[in-house]
This record gives sequence, C-alpha cells and structure tokens, in this order.
Amino acid sequence: MKRLGILLSGRGSNFEAIAESVAAGLVEASIACVISNQPEARGLGLARERHIPAFAIPSKGVDRESYDRTLIARLRDSQVDLICLAGYLRVLSAGFVREFSNRILNIHPSLLPAFPGLDAQRQALEYGVKITGCTVHFVDEYLDAGPLILQAAVPVHDTDTEESLSARILKEEHRIYSQAIRLVLSGNYRIEGRRVIPA
Ligand code: GRF
Repeated sequence: MKRLGILLSGRGSNFEAIAESVAAGLVEASIACVISNQPEARGLGLARERHIPAFAIPSKGVDRESYDRTLIARLRDSQVDLICLAGYLRVLSAGFVREFSNRILNIHPSLLPAFPGLDAQRQALEYGVKITGCTVHFVDEYLDAGPLILQAAVPVHDTDTEESLSARILKEEHRIYSQAIRLVLSGNYRIEGRRVIPA
C-alpha cells in the first residue's frame, strides 16, 4: 500500500477530499501523515479527528533550507511514497524537490500557466477571463511551475464574486486532485518534457 504525506497550511478541504477518496477505496493508499507549517491550521485538527498522524512544524523564523531538512526527516520517518501539497503556502527548496523528485504534487486554483501565486481566483476575476479552473501539477523549485497532470475548466459568471468563483473552482479541485493521485500512484504515465502523458 502506497503512503501519502500531506502538507498544508490552513483550511484543509483538499486534504479532506483526499481522505474521503482513500476511505472510499477510490485512492488505494493510506495517509501516513499530515504536516503543517502553521500550528493553528484547521487541517491538522481534521487529521487528528480522523486519527491520522498530524504534525505541526512551525516555519516562522526558520530559514528555508533547514526547515526543509526537518520536513524531509519527518517525511522519511513516515515512509511516504508521494507528497501532496494541499494549500501549503511555502515554496519548497531545490534540495527538497531533489529528494522527492517527481513525487510531489500540488493543486492550484487556476488554469496554469495563468495566474500563478496567491489569490489566483481574484486575479482571474480582475483580469476578466471567462473561463478559469484548477490544475494539479508536479512540483519543482519554482512557484506553480512543474509539469501539468490534470486540469478542469470552470466558467466565470458575470455575477461572480471572489467567493462564489472560489467555491465553484474548489468543487473541481476536490474532484481532480484524487484523480491525479490515482494516476500518479498507478505509474501509468510518462513525462515527455513538460507533458504528462497517461499510458
Ligand atoms: C486551494 O484553493 C488550493 O488550490 C490552493 O490553496 C487552497 C487550499 O484550500 N493551493 P484547502 O486548504 O485545501 O481548503
């Protein structure tokens, strides 16, 4: 059974969706640990409620390299096969990415490469796009930049607020993150340049 490690910083709804997929047998894996750089993250509490090992490793005042070394040690201890960033609000160091090369996924609330970074839904609204969405991608040491695994498109309505648009996107995030995890765990894909091609 493959082991997932989840990194998060806040609400944890993507973690919950993954946990539901695991519980339903749709993702054949176990969640080995949930780690947050924010000790107060709601997601940590949700993990504990599910009896999943949950660790707060505060990042405040710690430099990136040494923080990531602590993180690597924790993830190795938990023997994780795949790392899923789920609202993890820190860029990973090159050392971390090398350690888990092609074994780190992230979900981002836009159709990358449009609107990387924070507040992607607000960026989309302000830009005036008619279609946005979400993306699951492999993580490299750059922000929201690695090879794309799955995307889902979401319409932007004229009446949308940042909240209504975010909610519509979030539904799709919850759906495609588990799908992407399934694909990656199955190993039935290849990476050609930036293209992730299912077998
Ligand atoms: C999601 O919108 C995700 O795409 C982004 O951060 C948000 C996390 O939400 N990376 P949650 O903590 O999973 O509820």
